[in-house]
Amino acid sequence: MPIDRFGLAIATVDPVAIAAFESATHAVAAHKPGAPAALDAALAVKGGLAGAADRLEARIETNPGEFLIAKLAHSLRFMTGDAMGMLTSVDRTLVALRKDHPGHGFMLGCRAFALEELGAFDGAEKLGRLAVEIEPEDSWAIHAVGHVHEMTGRAADGLAWIESRRPTWTHCNNFALHMSWHAALLHLELGRVGVALDIFDTEVWPRASDDFRDMSNAVALLARIEQFGVDVGARWQGPAAIAARRARDTTLTFAALHNLIALVSSGHIDAARELAASLEMPSIGGDDQESVRAGVGRPLARAILGLADRVARPVDFASILRELPRVGGSNAQRDVFTRLLASMAADRHDAGALETILSVRGKLKRDDRFAALSRERLKTPPRRLIA
Ligand SMILES: [Fe+2]
Repeated sequence: MPIDRFGLAIATVDPVAIAAFESATHAVAAHKPGAPAALDAALAVKGGLAGAADRLEARIETNPGEFLIAKLAHSLRFMTGDAMGMLTSVDRTLVALRKDHPGHGFMLGCRAFALEELGAFDGAEKLGRLAVEIEPEDSWAIHAVGHVHEMTGRAADGLAWIESRRPTWTHCNNFALHMSWHAALLHLELGRVGVALDIFDTEVWPRASDDFRDMSNAVALLARIEQFGVDVGARWQGPAAIAARRARDTTLTFAALHNLIALVSSGHIDAARELAASLEMPSIGGDDQESVRAGVGRPLARAILGLADRVARPVDFASILRELPRVGGSNAQRDVFTRLLASMAADRHDAGALETILSVRGKLKRDDRFAALSRERLKTPPRRLIA
C-alpha cells in the first residue's frame, strides 16, 4: 500500500485526484484571511471532514451572507453522519440570514433535510415543502421531502412527489441519479421489481462510474432487490469492476463498505478479501476516518466478508448499529448495512438479534416489506454456515 507524504497509508493513486489534492494543499497553504471560504473545505481531502466543517462554521457568524460556507459545512456534516451537527450548522446561518436573502430558501431546504435525518418527519416535510415553494429549483429540498416519504413508508405519495419534480432534478449533475435511486426504492416497496430493475439500467447505473455516490446508489439498490429473492442477472458486474479497482482504497469508509458489498455479491472474493484487509490496516496520521474504520468499518467489513466465506463469524450487532451513523450518508443510504445485518441475524435464526436490529431501524423507518420478510425468514431453515 502506498504511503503518502503525510505518512498516511493511502490506496488511491488516481493521478487526477492527486493533482487536485496538490492544488488544494497549495491553496490552503497560501490561505489568507478573506480568501474564499471554500479553501477551508480543502482540508477535507486529508480526512479531516469534521475539522473542515468546524473551520467553515467558525466563519458563519462573521459571514452570514456567505451562503457557500453554510452549504459546504452542511455537506461535510452529512458525510460524517452528524445529523445534529447539520441542524446546528444550518441554524447558525439562518439566525443571521434575512428572509429576503437569496440563500434563505435554500437553507430552509438544508434544515428540512437535517430534521428528516433526526426523525422529525412532520417538521421536515412541512419545512421542505415551504423551501420548495420559495425555491422551486432547489433539488436538495425536493430530496428532503422525498426522504420523509421513504422513511415514513408512503411510497405512492413519495413517487408522486418525486416524479412531479422530475423536470427540476433531472437537470442536476449526478444528483439526478440519486433521485432516480429514491424513485426505484419506492417502486420496490410497492412490489414493482421490474420497474426498479429498469430504473437501475437506465437511470441509476446508465454507465460505469467510479464516483462513490453513484456506486452507493447502484450497490444499495441491487442489494435491496436481491433481498427480495430476485436474481439481478449480470448487473453486479459493472459496479464490481469499479470496486475491484478500488480494492485498496479505504479513503472513505462509506465508499469502501459499498465496494465490499459489490465484490462479495458478485463473487469477486479475492478482491473482497484484499479490501477487507486494507480496511484492517491502521493509518498513521489519525484522520477521522481511521476512527470510523476502528469503530464500525472493520467489524462491519468482517461481517460482510463472512457472507462470502459463508462462515458464521461472531458479529456484535448492537455495537455496529450504535456506531453505524459515523460512516456518514443518510439513514436511507445506511439502511443497506442495517438490512445486511438483519439478514445475517435472520440467517442465523437469531431472533433476539433480529428484533434488536429491526427495533433500532424502526425508530427512524416505518416497518416495511423487508422487515416482514426478515421475520418470515426465521420460519424457514437457517442457511448452512460453517460454525
Ligand atoms: Fe437521499
